[in-house]
Amino acid sequence: MAIQPSSTRAIPEVRPVPRHVAIIMDGNGRWAKTRKLPRAAGHREGVEAVRRVVRASIERGVEYVTLFAFSSENWRRPAEEVSFLMGLFVAALEREVDKLHANGVRLKVIGDVSAFDTRLVDLIRQAEQKTAGNQRLTLTIAANYGGRWDLMQAINAMTLAHPEKRGCYRETDLEPFLALGDIPEPDLFIRTGGEQRISNFLLWHLAYTELYFTDKFWPDFDEHLLDEAIASYRRRERRFGRTSEQLHAAMAQTSFPSAAASEALHA
Ligand code: IPE
Ligand code: IPE
Ligand code: MG
Repeated sequence: MAIQPSSTRAIPEVRPVPRHVAIIMDGNGRWAKTRKLPRAAGHREGVEAVRRVVRASIERGVEYVTLFAFSSENWRRPAEEVSFLMGLFVAALEREVDKLHANGVRLKVIGDVSAFDTRLVDLIRQAEQKTAGNQRLTLTIAANYGGRWDLMQAINAMTLAHPEKRGCYRETDLEPFLALGDIPEPDLFIRTGGEQRISNFLLWHLAYTELYFTDKFWPDFDEHLLDEAIASYRRRERRFGRTSEQLHAAMAQTSFPSAAASEALHA
């Protein structure tokens, strides 16, 4: 598959439904705390929210969903919480992969999986191989992922592959080595749980992504909250550096109206 043009080199097509939604699934611990439950209960309930969002994304025609499941900084948590999360990941893979496969979902895991135990790494690789040919939705789980780790591993791989270009590397040289590979940049970023930060998620790819923050905790996230996020996205004017007037002139010439324009047309 061809590498998708980056938003800083070409103006991407803007559709009413985001092609790629990237989510920081935050607030599991606080969801549990408000119910006087252990944090683990919040994480377990968070898996249900993943299931709902994957289903709703397929129904709405989203093509790529990228979920931040475990950051490179989450190792700082208490050992028992880290090991519970790893166990949950293993259990979710064992339970869900066949269903995902039956629903045409391609599963990918990005992050430094070398830190995981071999059973988990094997499950990840098997799931990726099994679902590699699916095209309905690409579900990418970021596990032991950090945006800076991604940039550094990509720079290291690029410089090893192309030592002759030293001092002259361009965006197009780096992009194939980033963990998301040829997946288009996220159109919509959602963070639940009330914090308004990126927490070292997709630093390169979020350059022109529309950001959406909600106070709702991740275990409460569902298709209605996804629709609210998409509705907010549709109201945005994605200018990619141009003026509003240029954007409207460009839209008048294309048969593919922007999300904001199509919203205006249907209002
Ligand atoms: C997100 O929920 C899940 C992970 C980071 C693994 P949190 O566990 O961060 O929940 P809060 O932010 O403490 O409520
Ligand atoms: C971000 O959430 C990482 C994931 C959701 C996996 P955190 O809860 O770890 O983020 P901070 O620590 O509040 O920034
Ligand atoms: Mg958190």
